[in-house]
Amino acid sequence: MTVRNILRMGDPLLLQRAAEVKSFGTPELQELLADMFDTMHSAGGVGLAAPQIGESLRVVVFGFEQSERYPDAPAVPRTILVNPVLTPLGEEQEEVWEGCLSVPGLRGLVPRHLRLRYQGFDPQGAPIDRTVDGFHARVVQHEVDHLDGILYPMRIRDMSRFGFQDVLFPGQPAGDD
Ligand code: NI
Repeated sequence: MTVRNILRMGDPLLLQRAAEVKSFGTPELQELLADMFDTMHSAGGVGLAAPQIGESLRVVVFGFEQSERYPDAPAVPRTILVNPVLTPLGEEQEEVWEGCLSVPGLRGLVPRHLRLRYQGFDPQGAPIDRTVDGFHARVVQHEVDHLDGILYPMRIRDMSRFGFQDVLFPGQPAGDD
């Protein structure tokens, strides 16, 4: 279990399409997941994708009871999702301020699908299939974007709604993800 260095925007690895996991239940996968949770918790994030710690694999983790960074967000169950597939449900989108541990200090207003189904596998290879909405759906979309080399600033429609968090929201606790 190790807190790993988080790659920041500009690193080419964050722009790659990550590879599917082929082997489940391996010590290597367990070690990667332990490092991802340690790193996410240490940074106070609500989610993390494997490429952010330099492992170009289709693995994301997310979940929290209460987030200092998103104090109004409802709890999201602690989830490990391997080889995820997202299916948006309906056309409805909403724009909410997002940050990212790989884009420290900044926030942007990002459109995301309000509702979606996500499928994938747990670390042992058992299937996961959930239909979610709101912040839960947003976190999944943000993390799975990392697996396709997409960082949230690429999704901002109005670049006047992108800036430093302490300038945009003076007096709020600093947060990055
Ligand atoms: Ni991120």
